[in-house]
Amino acid sequence: MAEYRAMFCLSDDDLSGRRILDCPGGAASFAAEASALGAEVTAIDPIYASEPGELAARAVPETERAVAWAHRHAGRYRWDWYGGTAEQAAMRRAAAARFAVDVCAAPHRYLAGRLPSLPCADGSFDLALSSHLLFSYADRLDADFHLAALLELTRVATVETRVYPLLDYTGAPLDDLIAHLRTELHDKGIRTSLRKTRYEFHHGADTMLTLHA
Ligand SMILES: C[S@@+](CC[C@H](N)C(=O)[O-])C[C@H]1O[C@@H](n2cnc3c(N)ncnc32)[C@H](O)[C@@H]1O
Repeated sequence: MAEYRAMFCLSDDDLSGRRILDCPGGAASFAAEASALGAEVTAIDPIYASEPGELAARAVPETERAVAWAHRHAGRYRWDWYGGTAEQAAMRRAAAARFAVDVCAAPHRYLAGRLPSLPCADGSFDLALSSHLLFSYADRLDADFHLAALLELTRVATVETRVYPLLDYTGAPLDDLIAHLRTELHDKGIRTSLRKTRYEFHHGADTMLTLHA
């Protein structure tokens, strides 16, 4: 939750009483924690087609793998936001544990679905958040996929869509792709803006893209 707050520049006003989509939700604790603060959160991810017990069982070992990977590639990252590698590991483990409890206790919050076609009516949410899928996997998701996914997120979110990070998973910048997508969105009447974030894990991943519906 602290990570989402920082990477998406979320204020208390952004959360309280808002209908929020987290896509992809993965094994993040955002849905659990923001719901406890009064937001109405739905997380969507293809992995939620699995049973809650199975998702819970997988969350911790998968987090351990991700933590180990980040620590093996420590030079790619800035650790100061967390305070160090041990603190980052502790925060990731706590998030996975929180997700594991919540996905079993409140499975209605976790919907199976995948971009670019979400199982939601137009305007189902006020705010859509999307982290670590778009741009992160630009090596295998092409520009058309990105555009379709961004249009889909703005279809379901009436106020804003926020996307982070804007680098690929190796930390490579994607300026041409971002410029292309912003032009396409502008031509479809969707205003976009870039905003500096308080969070920067990958070196240079200090910017969030906002689509204003
Ligand atoms: C690295 S996780 C990010 C999870 C979370 N947003 C976070 O930052 O911790 C990426 C997730 O994207 C999901 N995913 C893969 N393809 C997808 C698609 N087409 N639409 C939505 N989610 C997808 C995967 O299942 C995985 O859980």
